[in-house]
Amino acid sequence: MKFFLDTANLDEIRQAAALGLADGVTTNPTLISKEGKVDFKEHIAEICKIVSGPVSAETTTNDRDEMLKQGREYVKIAPNVVVKCPLTLEGLEATRILNDEGIKVNVTLCFSSAQAVCAAKAGASFISPFLGRLDDIGDNGLRLLEEIIEIYDNYEWKTEVLAASLRHPIHVIEAARMGADIATMPFKVFQQLLKHPLTDKGQETFLADWKKTSAAKA
Ligand code: G3P
Repeated sequence: MKFFLDTANLDEIRQAAALGLADGVTTNPTLISKEGKVDFKEHIAEICKIVSGPVSAETTTNDRDEMLKQGREYVKIAPNVVVKCPLTLEGLEATRILNDEGIKVNVTLCFSSAQAVCAAKAGASFISPFLGRLDDIGDNGLRLLEEIIEIYDNYEWKTEVLAASLRHPIHVIEAARMGADIATMPFKVFQQLLKHPLTDKGQETFLADWKKTSAAKA
């Protein structure tokens, strides 16, 4: 499973990239807004300098033709830019056209298997089911992910399943168990994946014991 970072923060992306854990990046208008007054295209270009894998840049309109215009502009930023379109009628129309032009699209805001099937048939390169947001309304994000993977496995669609809106390591690990192609996660979840209190405690003990040995003094 590939790990993508769900952030537009350059420091976080650099840190994850240094660990070799950033196979790609997903952004959205909310994440970009958290970075203050940045120039959108320049910011995406900066991210693409750090990460060689897919970097999602989201369209910011409900209008199909405007999505197409934005998407065609975004892919000029860097060769690894992927255009993000919403799972709406207009978004899927744009996905179909961009896909026919050889432009990769990440179809976002997916909350049902029926939507995921439509996205695959429209030629999406990635489908992004939002697990955490479904959990937030008392539904079950992991169950949706499982269903999408099961359905996609029946066909030869090229669409990669990108588990999104992940809130904690259990989302990531369960997504891996199900065989999701990609998990995109906030930097905080990356950090949580690495941590275990017994690792910290064990390392502390090893270092303390090492100081007591004659070998350490030699
Ligand atoms: O980038 C899409 C998705 O991962 C957003 O997650 O935490 O805003 O529900 P969240």
